[in-house]
Amino acid sequence: MGTMRLNLMGIAGAILSCSFAVGSLAATYPKVPNPSAKYPSGELGKMVKLGEDIIMHTNTNPLTKDLVGNKLTCTNCHLNGGKTKALGTFIGTALSFPAYSKREKTVQTLQDRINNCFMRSMDGKRPIIDTKASIAMAAYVTWLSEGLPIKMNPKKPVNPYYTNLWPNKKLNPVIKSATHKNYVRGKGIYESRCSSCHGADGQGVGSFPPLWGKNSYNSGAGMSKIGKMATWVLYNMPLGNTNLSEKDAVDVSIYVDAQPHSDFELTEHLLPRSEMGYYNSKVLHERHNVRSNFAKPWGLDIDAIRGDHKIK
Ligand code: HEC
Ligand code: HEC
Repeated sequence: MGTMRLNLMGIAGAILSCSFAVGSLAATYPKVPNPSAKYPSGELGKMVKLGEDIIMHTNTNPLTKDLVGNKLTCTNCHLNGGKTKALGTFIGTALSFPAYSKREKTVQTLQDRINNCFMRSMDGKRPIIDTKASIAMAAYVTWLSEGLPIKMNPKKPVNPYYTNLWPNKKLNPVIKSATHKNYVRGKGIYESRCSSCHGADGQGVGSFPPLWGKNSYNSGAGMSKIGKMATWVLYNMPLGNTNLSEKDAVDVSIYVDAQPHSDFELTEHLLPRSEMGYYNSKVLHERHNVRSNFAKPWGLDIDAIRGDHKIK
């Protein structure tokens, strides 16, 4: 894996129009088998299926719906419930846990990692560790790596197969030097390539999910960080037709992440101490908003980026 293959993929994607698109992860993903179509037998199989149902229908499954604060489900970003070898796949994810996380400054279990997404991407509350929902999701994600060798990842709590791809550091210089022009260009890309499915107002259309506002991810989510979003978009969107250039992906991500996203205040997403039990983190205060996500680490001023379109 690594940059050379990525470059080749970029060049080939630009020249060939049909064999594979610029944003295909399949071209770089190691040859790991597709997940087995067979669930484990007995009670374990039931848990795996339950976990799959929660990941596909997080905001309607009775065990998790009250913990979700927006209109998203895990599968909106971990495509096909993480079964597709797209960036964000869960094939391989379980291999790297327990793993150290700089964000929480502790070694995190797979349950921790999964449950923390509820506070950010799902703008809700963190499920209690070892509850049925929490175990079921971990069982499902683990099942998707069955047969693959454990690979401890001392760098970060991310799937070892794409830890070097995400976020794509090649995009950093473009982000750092962004101006209002990138925002305007991003708006144009949004209108021509995204709004048919995500709505002119970013609120989604039918089952196509919203990209900003109260029904979307909050400013503590991975997707609200321009570099992560641009990498994800480069590989995954527009759905079924991933052919954005790196600059397109950056500009459209700047546009989307510059729209309103709820402020993130960690303590608001934790259940009361008496209910939550042990919280495996040394970091108990964390705040983000759209402004701080542009300022750090990019040094960008949201007002200058948006021009006269001021937000708080
Ligand atoms: C709005 C998009 C979005 C949604 C919704 C979302 N995630 Fe994620 N998820 C991400 C991004 C982006 C990353 C990686 C970036 C990072 O490190 O923060 C990630 C990382 C992860 C990881 C780390 C493992 C790896 O291999 O990278 C796990 C596990 C995970 N998510 C589980 C979930 C679960 C379970 C849900 C539903 C409860 C969920 N996510 C919902 C965007 C999302
Ligand atoms: C053909 C319809 C379609 C187009 C065009 C499209 N998307 Fe999506 N997008 C989807 C669907 C559907 C999902 C959710 C995937 C799922 O649930 O299987 C999604 C998910 C997403 C997500 C993660 C979930 C969320 O709501 O935050 C982001 C971010 C995103 N799209 C950005 C974009 C951007 C940027 C563009 C334009 C460059 C784009 N999409 C174009 C259909 C589309």
